[in-house]
Amino acid sequence: MTDARPAAVVVLAAGEGTRMKSATAKVLHELGGRSMLGHVVAAARALQPEHLVVVVGHGRDQVTAALAELDPQATTVVQAEQNGTGHAVRIALDGLDHVEGTVVVVPGDAPLLTPATLVALVAQHEAAGAATTLLTARYPDPTGYGRVVREGPDVLRVVEHKDADDAVLRIDEIATGHYAFAAGPLREALGKLSTDNAQGEEYLPDVVRLHKDAGLTVGGRVVEHWGETVGVNDRIQLAVAARVLRDRVNRAHMLAGVAILDPETTWIDVDVVIEPDATVLPNTQLKGTTVVRRGAVVGPDSTLTSTEVGEGATVRRTTADGAVIGAEATVGPYSYLRPGTRLGRGAKVGAYVEVKASEIGDGSKVPHLAYVGDATIGERSNIGAGTIVVNYDGRAKHKTKIGDDVRVGSNNSLVAPVTIGDGGYTAAGSAITNDVPPGALGVGRARQRNIEGWVERKRGKQGT
Ligand code: UD1
Ligand code: CA
Repeated sequence: MTDARPAAVVVLAAGEGTRMKSATAKVLHELGGRSMLGHVVAAARALQPEHLVVVVGHGRDQVTAALAELDPQATTVVQAEQNGTGHAVRIALDGLDHVEGTVVVVPGDAPLLTPATLVALVAQHEAAGAATTLLTARYPDPTGYGRVVREGPDVLRVVEHKDADDAVLRIDEIATGHYAFAAGPLREALGKLSTDNAQGEEYLPDVVRLHKDAGLTVGGRVVEHWGETVGVNDRIQLAVAARVLRDRVNRAHMLAGVAILDPETTWIDVDVVIEPDATVLPNTQLKGTTVVRRGAVVGPDSTLTSTEVGEGATVRRTTADGAVIGAEATVGPYSYLRPGTRLGRGAKVGAYVEVKASEIGDGSKVPHLAYVGDATIGERSNIGAGTIVVNYDGRAKHKTKIGDDVRVGSNNSLVAPVTIGDGGYTAAGSAITNDVPPGALGVGRARQRNIEGWVERKRGKQGT
């Protein structure tokens, strides 16, 4: 994305995140199906840095494990005590003592920042040959943030809210916490940070003043959309950020040709792929690595997790997880597709049907009130209403094999392991415990007998 690759990006993620009131480390809380750390690391990766270092402290085991999944190339350094953002960067640089060139610092709790903004920050920094370039934003309510003090166009320093006087508190331009630095001058300034401030911490923003006072070039870049820089400190801010991300994701899909009828109730994870001319109806969540192909209609009221919906398929009021739905297939309403479900072209899974680890071939139908588990069903077969595949004997799961052009009668129990051959039929109400050969009718129930006069003998004459 940029020809000027920074030497290093340092992600600050050692803070406690007390206000989340959670056993989960703050940066591991999710929005759009990805942790905050995942969003930040993805944006950092877009810069193609030589080193990507994450400073960890609180919840370091969780965070380190999550990072190993997200980005195995990234490294961590431990900040055992959180003595401030400047202290955190100082520790990160201890492990990068050979590094020269640009060092970018990003907070781990600002998940909405786009790669493009970071790229622009680095480009401006390097073009100006600056010692420090900080990202700034004008906030409608700057309460709590570090304020950017300027003299004309020049940035002089950043003053933390808790250290600010009334004049500074009236400034609405804040430091977002994102910086590009020249490695040498950064190292020098970090060695001079004091803790003589309201929080008794080494403040990274003090590097701005130290560089300015040393006569080095300091630049500021004001972001276009302040919303992308917001930090998340509690669950209210997390919900706000999640909505912003939702709108961003939905807009991108709509601009790419996807019909989303009610963007406010449609939640699509960042890794979901949707082809043009697909339609997403209200109250729908598409999660994980879900893929929706051209012309498919999903929703309303559906939650699909890592599920593939084939071209022209219809999926209404359905919960699906790890399923593959063939082209032109129809699912729902009130269907539950569990992992390992594969529906062929034009297959149908109807109302109140649960399917698990089963293949349902092209054109086959399970229209009503059924459970299908650990089964394969061939092509053009029909499973009657109320049928249960009895796959579990209390100890182990067994397989059921149903061929092509089979008709399973209503309300059958197919007791696995069992096979129904091609073209086989079963009678309604059967418990099928033995294989049914191709073309045969399996009858697994007692023959009906009628007992004449039974009611009168039992109860006496009606009405007496
Ligand atoms: C910080 C900035 C402030 C800026 C604001 C933007 C400082 C002193 N202040 O304030 O100028 O306006 O961000 O959101 O930098 N962290 C560590 N180790 C530490 C302390 C913090 O890794 O010892 C990490 C935190 O986990 C967090 C980030 O650094 O991801 C920012 O720290 P936080 O305490 O949230 O700083 P703010 O008070 O928000
Ligand atoms: Ca913060």
